[in-house]
Amino acid sequence: MKPQINQRVTIRPAKPEDEDKIVEIQYNAIKIIAAKDYSHKQLNALLKSKSIPRKSPETVFIAEINGQPVGFASLLSPPNIISAVFVDPNFIRRNIGTLLIHRLEKEAIKNKVPILWVYSSLTGYSFYRANGYQTIRKAYLPLYSTYIPCIQMKKRLLTITSNEIRKELYQFIAATAIAIAIVYFLIKV
Ligand SMILES: CC(C)(COP(=O)(O)OP(=O)(O)OC[C@H]1O[C@@H](n2cnc3c(N)ncnc32)[C@H](O)[C@@H]1OP(=O)(O)O)[C@@H](O)C(=O)NCCC(=O)NCCS
Repeated sequence: MKPQINQRVTIRPAKPEDEDKIVEIQYNAIKIIAAKDYSHKQLNALLKSKSIPRKSPETVFIAEINGQPVGFASLLSPPNIISAVFVDPNFIRRNIGTLLIHRLEKEAIKNKVPILWVYSSLTGYSFYRANGYQTIRKAYLPLYSTYIPCIQMKKRLLTITSNEIRKELYQFIAATAIAIAIVYFLIKV
């Protein structure tokens, strides 16, 4: 059954009891939404990896409608990578993915992360583009003896101030001067 478009979506941090629902959403999203973009072998590897609970130490947010999880997204920070955005196939194109990604970006900005990175699935590419992510390059992630094509993308969240540029320049000059001094000292001794 399709949900009403005006049903209110709320975003909240994930709890341990969400684990089964997270696995169900990621498995169904790959099986139904992403299937068209991958070969049989690649799809099987993806489904295998999404049929078990997520293990990385991620910050996870859940999207809910009427208390029911309909999507989730996660952030690995460091190294400041979006590690997942998955929406229940019954609820796609309702802005839920965008709300989730905005929540991740807010979290990253709170932690002063200047750039967010993502290895987007081929399926997620247009979604990330629509949310302001720039294409870096095509990449291949190894998964159960197969390679999964994806696209490395990034979004700058914080602009660099001239003070930060100056600070980095001073640090670079100081590091170079120390290196020269050490080499000079070693030659002399
Ligand atoms: C990618 C995904 C998270 C998008 O979630 P969503 O809730 O449908 O996304 P939104 O409704 O917020 O989409 C925002 C915009 O992104 C773009 N977009 C989203 N899905 C798209 C698609 N399948 N094709 C083309 N553009 C798409 C559109 O511009 C869309 O705006 P519009 O609906 O007004 O045209 C969802 O399709 C999904 O779970 N896919 C399978 C899992 C996956 O590949 N996730 C990415 C992992 S890196």
